[in-house]
This record gives sequence, C-alpha cells and structure tokens, in this order.
Amino acid sequence: DDKAISTLYISGQPGTGKTALVTDVLKKLAEQDSTSSLTPIYVNCTGLSDVKAVWDRVWEEVVQSSGGSAGSKLKPGEAKKHFESALKRDQGFRCVLVLDEVDYVSKTTSSLSEIYQFARNHSGTLRLIGIANTLTLGAEAKRASPATPTKPPRTSLTVVGPQKSMNFTAYTHTDLSTIINARLSPLSAEERTSMFNPAALNFLSKKVAAVNGDVRYCLSVLRRCVESAEKESVDGTGKGKVEMKHVLESLRAHESAKTGATTGASSGAGSGGSSISRTVRNMGLHPRLALVALLIGWRRLQADLPLTVGHTSSKSTTTSDVEKLTAPTLYNFYVTLLTATVVSDLGEAGPSTPFNPVSRGEFQDILGLLETSGLVSFPNEVPPALARSISASASTPSFPTAPISPPKTPSRNRIIRPTSFGTPSRSVSASGGGRKRVCEPCVVLNETIREEEVVRGLTTPGSPDKGMTTQEKEVERVWTRELKKVGKDEEKRERKQVEERERDAVRARAFEDAQD
Ligand SMILES: Nc1ncnc2c1ncn2[C@@H]1O[C@H](COP(=O)(O)OP(=O)(O)OP(=O)(O)O)[C@@H](O)[C@H]1O
Ligand SMILES: [Mg+2]
Repeated sequence: DDKAISTLYISGQPGTGKTALVTDVLKKLAEQDSTSSLTPIYVNCTGLSDVKAVWDRVWEEVVQSSGGSAGSKLKPGEAKKHFESALKRDQGFRCVLVLDEVDYVSKTTSSLSEIYQFARNHSGTLRLIGIANTLTLGAEAKRASPATPTKPPRTSLTVVGPQKSMNFTAYTHTDLSTIINARLSPLSAEERTSMFNPAALNFLSKKVAAVNGDVRYCLSVLRRCVESAEKESVDGTGKGKVEMKHVLESLRAHESAKTGATTGASSGAGSGGSSISRTVRNMGLHPRLALVALLIGWRRLQADLPLTVGHTSSKSTTTSDVEKLTAPTLYNFYVTLLTATVVSDLGEAGPSTPFNPVSRGEFQDILGLLETSGLVSFPNEVPPALARSISASASTPSFPTAPISPPKTPSRNRIIRPTSFGTPSRSVSASGGGRKRVCEPCVVLNETIREEEVVRGLTTPGSPDKGMTTQEKEVERVWTRELKKVGKDEEKRERKQVEERERDAVRARAFEDAQD
C-alpha cells in the first residue's frame, strides 16, 4: 500500500512458505482485480545465470500473459528495453514482478543492484518482490543503498538495495500442526482416525519444528509415513495406520538420505557409492519413480527417441520434440511412465503401474527433496555428457516473439507459475507442440553422483526378491521394463533406417535403369 515503497525483499529458510504465500497473494490480486491492467509476473530464477537472462524471462512472461506468440530470437538487451518501454508508456500497463530464488542471479551485488535500480526507476508502474534464502542478500544491499546511506559505497558503482525486507521464520510446532490438519481436511473424521494416530502427527510436527521448521520436509516425511503404512496393509503386516514408529522410521530415512548423499557426493566415485544407493533406497516411492523417469528420460533423449512409453503408441503420450528434460517435461514423462497403457508378457493391455502420479505441486516438492539430498541439480545448459549422441533434427529452440508494441492492457490477468512448473500447455503439451525456452533449466543427476549408484539404489542387484517390498519390486520392474524398451526402440529405429536406405537404393537403381 505504501506508494513510496516499490521494492521488497523476502528471505527465509527453505520451506517457510515464501513462494506459497507470495504466489497466493498474486493469485488473489489477479482474481480480485480481473478487469484492471495489473499484470502479476512470476519468474523463478533457478538456473538463470545473469541479469540478462532474467529480463529475457520476464519479457517472455509479459508477452505470454498478454497472449503473445512464439517466434524469433531477441537480440541481447532487447528484452529489457521492451519491458522498460511497456512500463514507461503510461498506457495502463502495471506490473507486480516476483523474482523467486533471486540469489541465483545475485552472484555479484551489482546484478541485484541493477534489478532494484530498474524497479525504482519505474516505481510508478512496477512493484518488485525478490525472494531468496539468504538473509544478508537484502540486508547488505539495503545497507549499501543510497536511500539509507551509512557509509560511502566501496566501489564507484552505486549499489541499490530493496526498500523493505522481510524475513520468514521457520514454522513452529503449532504452525506445522495447522498445516498438516489443513492438508488432511479432505478426509472424513473416520478416515482420519483410521489412517493417523494423532499422537504420531503431533510428534512429527514437534520433531520437524525442532529440526528445521521446514514444511516441505514435514510433508515429505508424512508422505513417506503414509506410504509405509499403506505398504504394510498391502503386505498384511499392518493396518495401514500411521503410528509413531512410522514417523521415527521416516525421519531416520530422511536424515540418512541427506547425510548419505552428502557424504557420497563429497567422497567421490569410490567409497561413497554405497551410501548413494542407500540414500536412493531409503527414499519414498515417488522420489524413486521420479529418478527412474529422470534416468530413462535422458537415455531416450540421448538416443533421439521420443518420450513415449507403452507398446500401444498413443499420440497423447508422445513428446517427440523435447530436447532436454526440464521440470515440466520430466513431470509429463513421469506421469506417462505411471499411466501409459502397456501390454504385458501375457499379451494383456493395462496401466503401466498400479500407482497414481502425484500432482505437479507435489512433484516440485519431490524435486526439491532430491536437490537437497544432493542427487539432482538444475543447470541452465544441457551438460555435454547428456547431449544427444545421434545428431537430432536440427530444430533450434525459439524465443517468443516480442511484439513491437508492448502489451497495453493485458487481456487477462493471470498468475505465472514458477519456471519449473508452467502449465502443461505452456511447457510440453500433450500434442507435442511444446515450446521450449532457452533459459529453462534442465533437471539432471548431480555431476558428483554416479548413475550406477543411483541405479543400484533403484534396483537390488543379486539380492533375493523375497526381501523386497511391493513398492521396491514395482520400481525395479518399471526401471527394467523401460530400460529394455530404450534398447528395443533403438533397434526398431535402426531397422527402419536400414529399410529406408534399401528402399532408396532400389529406387535409385530403378531410376538409373530407366535412364539407360
Ligand atoms: N502456510 C502453509 N500452508 C500450507 N502449505 C504450505 C504453507 N507454507 C508452505 N506450504 C507448502 O510447503 C511447501 C514449501 O513451501 P514454499 O515453496 O512456499 O517454501 P519456500 O519458503 O518458498 O522454500 P524455498 O526457499 O525452498 O523456495 C509447498 O508445497 C507449500 O505449498
Ligand atoms: Mg520458494
């Protein structure tokens, strides 16, 4: 409300609800004020290495929010200029810009400073909210800000910081309990009593509040508890109710996952191997299935195969123009892996797995968990090791066209979802018309992690089938099936290529004969 303040910085530890709150407020703003020209723009800066990339993304979102279309590549610096003239023009275009994970671009104070300066220059039409984990990022810049000069800047560069900073503190035990209750509210009272021991839930929120107050962590532990209880009920070893022991087990598994991955990552290829596999083995069903999708997805892309699963090649599961696995493409592939129709060895067609995929939001949390466990990372560029081995159809990714005139009155206000989770139609659409963005980060196995170790965690080489739980068997089954399918599909494609070459040769001979 304060007109004098146009820039805000929000800091806080992971899982303290920064993104959730800000995106919710933006959504409400857009709903409340659907007729106004206020355009909420959300950009997740993960993987954006410099300020230029940020402006590119921002402009791309502005164009898309006003119904613009994809097209030619922008020249360096053009995106910022376009955005600037949109803000300047005083044609009713006003923007609330949220830059989440802004620490990715703030490797130097000057880059952040440039962004804040820009926002201050357009304070009449632009509000900027930067979000990151570090408390100091805003504070240091603020101290150095000319608005509140305490000492002269160290360099000749004027450093500009946010005008206001907020720090989100970790969730308390009561907060976490409330959040859990809200998440379980779709359940009826009876369902709830039959599925959860209240003491176990209370213990969980207390424990997490004591560890880190991270609600993402809390929900992930809870998810694992539900999975274990469910598994016991399937195996006939339990009643399917989350008890104290499940919470303890799940907390332990999460902790060992964390330490396992860290030690594994730091000790390199040698002794760390087994701890990586342990980490993977200790993860819940869906993080493990996400890893299967990640490894298989990259293998298919490297071999220039479409991200298709299932023996009945259905168009809806084809995403053949995908060039790299970004969070949305990975999510789509994960869903396909779990739901596509496959024909069993007995010739029966049925769903690929008995499991329902988690929602996009939950999948994002799973990726967050895999990242904090040190297993995956989100580089901007495809690492050379994962580039296509076969020269792909040389389709170059395209930037959206920047319309010559900036959007005057955006047709409809809408919330722009995080980079990692655009709406399906904007990421990789089922029809295969996916629009890729150059700066969208990809999801890869962390470079310090060896793939074999992860695979060992997803399967149980040499160990008797007996000791495996139903879920472990299922993950292994999906992995083995899909791996085989990559090989088969490659063979099929090669056979087709040979046939085509032979046909061409026959045609060429026929042509020569005719000429003679
Ligand atoms: N108050 C809340 N009520 C319900 N769910 C919440 C609340 N706060 C956070 N969550 C959920 O917890 C998860 C993590 O929250 P969020 O993404 O906002 O954390 P963050 O502070 O942005 O973390 P990071 O710094 O890692 O980005 C999300 O799934 C979110 O929906
Ligand atoms: Mg966040």
